[in-house]
Amino acid sequence: MSEATIEVSGLRKRFGATLALDEMSFTVRPGQITGFVGPNGAGKSTTMRVILGLDAADAGAALIGGQPYRSLRHPLSHVGALLDAAALQPSGTARNHLLWLAHSQGLTARRVDEVIGQVGLESAARRKAGGYSLGMRQRLGIAAAMLGDPPVLMLDEPVNGMDPEGIVWMRGFLRSLAAQGRALLVSSHLMSELQDTADHLVVVAGQGHRRHQRR
Ligand SMILES: Nc1ncnc2c1ncn2[C@@H]1O[C@H](COP(=O)(O)OP(=O)(O)OP(=O)(O)O)[C@@H](O)[C@H]1O
Ligand SMILES: [Mg+2]
Repeated sequence: MSEATIEVSGLRKRFGATLALDEMSFTVRPGQITGFVGPNGAGKSTTMRVILGLDAADAGAALIGGQPYRSLRHPLSHVGALLDAAALQPSGTARNHLLWLAHSQGLTARRVDEVIGQVGLESAARRKAGGYSLGMRQRLGIAAAMLGDPPVLMLDEPVNGMDPEGIVWMRGFLRSLAAQGRALLVSSHLMSELQDTADHLVVVAGQGHRRHQRR
């Protein structure tokens, strides 16, 4: 999967007086989980939003498999993303939500049932997703990210709201996705959540946004 990279170089983003991103640079490589660690407000979600073209950077570039997100013709088959699962509250069933996403990208109902199985939501998929717990919404968000079988995955705080059993499941699931050669960018505000799971950490400090990378 040679297209399985994210390259972020020199991103800057200001919101009024807040410098949210100050020369953010890192690379997410295939077959690896890159942990993205920093305290609240460090700019993790903003970086992911810029990579997805949901926020415009003031300077710098973010490329997925060498291309900016907006130039990808079938984005779901290049990159899957889980952003802020708490905000995802479809009014219908989880399965119908996934079917709608799948059809918009020319993907089949069979693929929807595959990803439902991969994230362990078989028994809940025909219930209204609005009544899901946060942990179940995280699983639904991962299922949506997996729909297009993308070589690159970006998950913003995926274990947030998960119980210990769910966290163990998530770690194993993320490792299996990396073992398939995918590139994963996974954020957390706790280094302890990622240090045993990630191959590589990008650490973003809060004030001043100093960074270092360590293996
Ligand atoms: N739309 C926006 N308008 C104004 N300020 C924003 C906006 N989005 C982010 N910010 C600010 O940018 C900074 C970085 O926020 P961001 O959400 O990227 O941090 P984070 O690392 O994801 O934090 P958390 O761990 O709390 O999720 C914060 O100071 C935040 O208040
Ligand atoms: Mg965030």
